[in-house]
Amino acid sequence: MSLHQVASMAAVSGGHCELAIMSSVPLRATSFSFHFPVFCPSTCSPLSRSRDCHPLPLYHQNPRRRNPEKQKVLRVDCAAGQPLKVIILGAPASGKGTQCRMIVEKYGLVHISTGDILRAEVSSGTEIGNKAKEYMDNGMLVPDEIVTDMVLTRLSLPDVKERGWLLDGYPRSFSQAQSLEKANIKPDICIVLDVPDEILIDRCVGRRIDPVTRKIYHLKNLPPETDEISARLIARADDTQEKAESRLETYKRNVEAILPLYMDLLKKIDGNGPKDVVFDEVDFLFHPFHADAIKSKKLSTVEGDSVEVCTSTVSFSTQKKWRGIPTRLNNIPHSKEIREYFYNDVLEATLKAIEDKRSRLKVEINIPELNPEMDVYRIGTLMELVRTLALSFADDGKHVKVCVQGSMGEGALAGMPLQLAGSRRILEFMDWGKYGAKDTFITIGSIGAKEIDEQVDIYILVSPQNAVGNCIINDLQAMTDAAGQCPVILINPRLKDLPGSSGIMQIMGRDKRLEYASSFINCYFFRLLYYAGTQYPIMGAIRMSYSHDYELFKRIDDPSGKEKYVIIARFPLRPTIEEINDAFEGKISRRSKEKWASGLWSFFG
Ligand code: AP5
Repeated sequence: MSLHQVASMAAVSGGHCELAIMSSVPLRATSFSFHFPVFCPSTCSPLSRSRDCHPLPLYHQNPRRRNPEKQKVLRVDCAAGQPLKVIILGAPASGKGTQCRMIVEKYGLVHISTGDILRAEVSSGTEIGNKAKEYMDNGMLVPDEIVTDMVLTRLSLPDVKERGWLLDGYPRSFSQAQSLEKANIKPDICIVLDVPDEILIDRCVGRRIDPVTRKIYHLKNLPPETDEISARLIARADDTQEKAESRLETYKRNVEAILPLYMDLLKKIDGNGPKDVVFDEVDFLFHPFHADAIKSKKLSTVEGDSVEVCTSTVSFSTQKKWRGIPTRLNNIPHSKEIREYFYNDVLEATLKAIEDKRSRLKVEINIPELNPEMDVYRIGTLMELVRTLALSFADDGKHVKVCVQGSMGEGALAGMPLQLAGSRRILEFMDWGKYGAKDTFITIGSIGAKEIDEQVDIYILVSPQNAVGNCIINDLQAMTDAAGQCPVILINPRLKDLPGSSGIMQIMGRDKRLEYASSFINCYFFRLLYYAGTQYPIMGAIRMSYSHDYELFKRIDDPSGKEKYVIIARFPLRPTIEEINDAFEGKISRRSKEKWASGLWSFFG
């Protein structure tokens, strides 16, 4: 019987399999019995065809991937059309196992972890396990011939040929790397996770494994979700401070000899960030190999420039068609493509909210050209956004009234917000399309109950805001009360109480006014994040598109010079500064108040 026949039998038997090697492939003469983790169709989700045969499918372990029906394993092929082959290297506790789980979940590669296979041997008390135990417990490398046989055998199984492989923990020495070379086994990418020494030791000492799901936790960084899981966690025998230090030394001694062999394939990644951020970087490396060709889309700008729309987060977003946050957002003026991107993003969210019969809506979008607190604010961009919405509703046969607040107050207190100065006239003179939508389907008005018209289906209120000494909320409330069930959309409202020049801003009824203002739901929210008090560089962004969560993105400069936005957290409600800080620092739990007060990040404005 050939090795492949034996392997096939093993593959259908499910669970850990006893595999007798009787083959002429370059293995050593002695026959061993290996405990390879094999996919068990009866108990595992197809998504978890990876490490061990888990009694629980992976989507139970990761709340981000709740719907197994909709989750699709992406196929990744190398240039020759063969399934992808990946080596992942890194010091002990650099996060190899953690990242491998995520890679396998998304791409379905066969995860071959020498550490996991050896631990399975040890716990089953096999001959190999007994031999390996002593080395492992002392933080030393298991003899090459044992590990190399194991790896070459596993790599010859049919599932590997079909799905590609992800080699974790091998090669660990120059001679192991040579063994791969001799067997003509080459990866398409070699990923190196880079983490500072002190973090590595802390990760080792704090690591705990769930024996049921095999999920890797950390007492501080990745605590278990429930008390039940917490009670059953186990620590690895080699995760003491002393052994972790010795393993790290061994790694450093060996890795220098291995890296030159993969020089042209090496991709070094900063592994010292939240695991999702690290994964986004890893995932980015897989993009050129996507068989489904989810690729960055190049758009041509009016100036002939090109705008990169980052798609690296597409797979994370809950919105299937959303193409990711565009880059170069600090380039002013924004290109037409960037502006259109946001107009369409807002439109899609607004249409969905209206479809869901939501009638009090708020759009808050603060890209630089729409942020009145930045000196690159452009009223024209705001008007274009309004036109896009109004024309789209009009195309659907709806009557739309676009309302801009006029002068408020009397005598010395008369005036209107500076940001709206001239906007009414701009609206009157704008190009409303060839088909004469203006004055038929679209009318222009002001803010107040008297603006309500029976013919109108939707009201768009342009940036309603308090003027110095005057509160717009009373007029708004009267108007929306009169509008009944008609949708009223506030675009970038600024309804916070502002102190008047005379210091006499209406205090009476303040609570009621603010309560009214909060009755509008956000159907779209976008804000760039900067260090507190600065406007450069962009550190990240928050986006919410009805009816999805608020998504927090970190902006990353790719080693190739490109930038991209990667998602690092989701929130059902708009996140607080404290929550943003925590997410950027990779923390799950809330920080203490004292720390929050000196927080690193802040919303701009
Ligand atoms: P092996 O199991 O491969 O151990 P290792 O290489 O030391 O790697 P670890 O499993 O310790 O860490 P990891 O990088 O997978 O990190 P993890 O994701 O778990 O090998 C064990 C032993 O087997 C070796 O010492 C040797 O004896 C033997 N062996 C194996 N291969 C061999 C070979 N080829 N030749 C000879 N002998 C061999 O994460 C670690 C912790 O950090 C976890 O708590 C996790 O929750 C946390 N964490 C992960 N990512 C993050 C993050 N981004 N932020 C915060 N915390 C994180």
